[in-house]
Amino acid sequence: MKFFIDTANVDAIRKAHERGMVDGVTTNPSLVAKEGRNFREIIDEIASFVDGPISLEVVSEDAQGMIEEARELNGWIDNAAIKIPMTWEGLKAVKVLSEEDIHTNVTLCFSANQALLAAKAGASFISPFIGRLDDVGKTGMQLVDEIVQIYMNYGYETEVIVASIRHPMHVLEAAYIGADIATIPPSVLEKMVNHPLTDVGIERFLADWKKAKK
Ligand code: E4P
Repeated sequence: MKFFIDTANVDAIRKAHERGMVDGVTTNPSLVAKEGRNFREIIDEIASFVDGPISLEVVSEDAQGMIEEARELNGWIDNAAIKIPMTWEGLKAVKVLSEEDIHTNVTLCFSANQALLAAKAGASFISPFIGRLDDVGKTGMQLVDEIVQIYMNYGYETEVIVASIRHPMHVLEAAYIGADIATIPPSVLEKMVNHPLTDVGIERFLADWKKAKK
């Protein structure tokens, strides 16, 4: 399973990278705005140490605008995946971009039919937003299950990025289902290593070691 880091905070990405947990990065306009820094500068810095796909999102709403923006963003770094919103205009853009070998990540996916359309358009990645579905009383992870099954039925190569992850159980469930990728916020990654019995165990070993003959 690949781990992407869902943030535009370069320090947090670096920390996860030093721990060997970064196969890629996803950003979005909200995450970039939170940093209060220049978009290009952030992306250049991330690309200086991350080899895997880095998602950069377009903000145009029409296909032509998205295509032009995508071409420009794709020129910034070698490993860009251009995030395109899940609309008909977005799908038209994905089709053109995939023919130009520009990698795309179709974002804001909330149904299996949307994921099917994205795969048919030639998307490199699809991003179902799990946490946001949970927020409105749906079981977000069921969508991941459906998409993985549908893509398997037809051998689509579009990779499934489980997005809008809110807690470690989301990552675990995504792994059980066999999703290709989880894009994980740094705070969730941090929690994944924790177990109280590990802490107690270390404490006990160290205490006993003090009493051991050396
Ligand atoms: C994914 O690509 C998105 O950036 C992200 O997962 C959205 O998460 P949110 O619903 O917590 O904003």
